[in-house]
Amino acid sequence: MLSLSISTLLLSLCSLNVGGCENYDDPKKNLRTEFALALYQRLAELDNRTNLVISPASISLSLGLLQLGAQGNTFAQLKNALGYSTHDQGALDSLHTVYQEVTNSSQGPIAQLACVLFVQAGLLLSPQFVQHAALWANTTLRQANFSEPNRTTAQINEWIATSLGDGETNGLSLETTDSPLHQVAVVSTMHFKSTWQRKFIFTNTQPLSFTTAEGLILKVPTMYLRNEVNYGEFLTDSLERISVVELPYLGETISMFVVLPSDRRTSLAQIETHLSTRSFPLWSNNLRRTKMDIFLPRFRIQKHLDLKMVLPALGITDMFDPTQADFKGISEQASLYISEAIHKAKIEVTEDGTSASGTTAMVLLKRSRAPVFKADRPFHFLLRQASTGSILFIGRLMNPTE
Ligand SMILES: *[C@@H]1O[C@H](CO)[C@@H](O)[C@H](O)[C@H]1NC(C)=O
Ligand SMILES: *[C@@H]1O[C@H](CO)[C@@H](O)[C@H](O)[C@H]1NC(C)=O
Ligand SMILES: *[C@@H]1O[C@H](CO)[C@@H](O)[C@H](O)[C@H]1NC(C)=O
Ligand SMILES: *[C@@H]1O[C@H](CO)[C@@H](O)[C@H](O)[C@H]1NC(C)=O
Ligand SMILES: *[C@@H]1O[C@H](CO)[C@@H](O)[C@H](O)[C@H]1NC(C)=O
Repeated sequence: MLSLSISTLLLSLCSLNVGGCENYDDPKKNLRTEFALALYQRLAELDNRTNLVISPASISLSLGLLQLGAQGNTFAQLKNALGYSTHDQGALDSLHTVYQEVTNSSQGPIAQLACVLFVQAGLLLSPQFVQHAALWANTTLRQANFSEPNRTTAQINEWIATSLGDGETNGLSLETTDSPLHQVAVVSTMHFKSTWQRKFIFTNTQPLSFTTAEGLILKVPTMYLRNEVNYGEFLTDSLERISVVELPYLGETISMFVVLPSDRRTSLAQIETHLSTRSFPLWSNNLRRTKMDIFLPRFRIQKHLDLKMVLPALGITDMFDPTQADFKGISEQASLYISEAIHKAKIEVTEDGTSASGTTAMVLLKRSRAPVFKADRPFHFLLRQASTGSILFIGRLMNPTE
């Protein structure tokens, strides 16, 4: 097949030119998508009723730093789950690109991504690791005294609140452990707020019905836009029809893909299991320019996630186990293990990207013959960086008023 030979050729060109490859058949790219989708599916299984959002890119970056300090099986598990090795310069370069583009506000997107490692105070850290951490995607190392769990808890909560710029407390509380082993808590946050390439007009927003999975009908502020967008309808493996629309952000380096069951009788849970490394690129690369009427509820989701609940299902177990963890690359002096791995993601979707406020004028929408994409029931969304294929965010909206 022609497409196969072209991609084989591109792959071999890529391996000659490590780091500079922007091709969709890049196996690294697929592995990264695989991590993102596997992580999301585990999470969705644990919690199948509420709004969700996580930033796989941010989680992948924070685990990447741990990989730099890991050895033996702890290293191997992180490498296998993440789909990249921090010993590979090409992988490091592409991670750097992800981070630079996401946080480069001159191109439009405004993402704040931060990671912190709280390490037991008084411990001698490997100078090489300290140096790596300083250069790694906005990471800081902090000292904490895990013998004083309440103080450490307060320290972590305060860091989360500051890095996300909000005053909300998180209900995190560390347990007192009598373990003589040394602990590390890793915390990552990601906040995204950007401007659409083509803004929704504020005065076109009006209260429309949104039907929840339980059949509850809510009136929620729904944004409206008539625009030429990339759109497609596809069948999942179990023959459920889904509609996918791509809404680019300013600069077109990042797009939001909204995935909606076409038939209102199909639940979101039924299509969740079909979001895969094979299906998502297939859908997103086969959209067609279509002039459409788009209705999307305004929403804001923030989610606090305990990664200890999901990472073991992806094969990352040793780092949480005091008897197995091997972080000799962080400190030669003591046995370290990860006692906490916390992630907090926050996303806001509004007409233009600035906080929507004030009163809303009602408009009567003219009838048109354009096809309609109406997200008036639960849907998935994914934010993907075009150049690297990295999934910055993945989540679902079950209830816009939550
Ligand atoms: C949600 O999870 C609960 C408990 O695991 C299960 O009983 C229920 O059927 C699930 N609901 C859906 C819509 O998948
Ligand atoms: C940020 O984006 C602008 C515009 O695309 C580009 O010129 C600049 O080099 C970028 N900066 C970095 C640090 O990537
Ligand atoms: C880096 O992290 C700090 C919080 O530790 C945050 O305020 C800042 O916005 C982050 N920078 C970027 C570029 O994400
Ligand atoms: C940590 O806290 C314990 C209990 O309060 C105290 O005995 C110890 O000296 C502290 N360690 C450091 C390095 O501050
Ligand atoms: C730590 O917090 C727990 C629960 O909030 C509380 O019961 C306990 O008294 C606190 N310990 C100290 C030393 O403040």
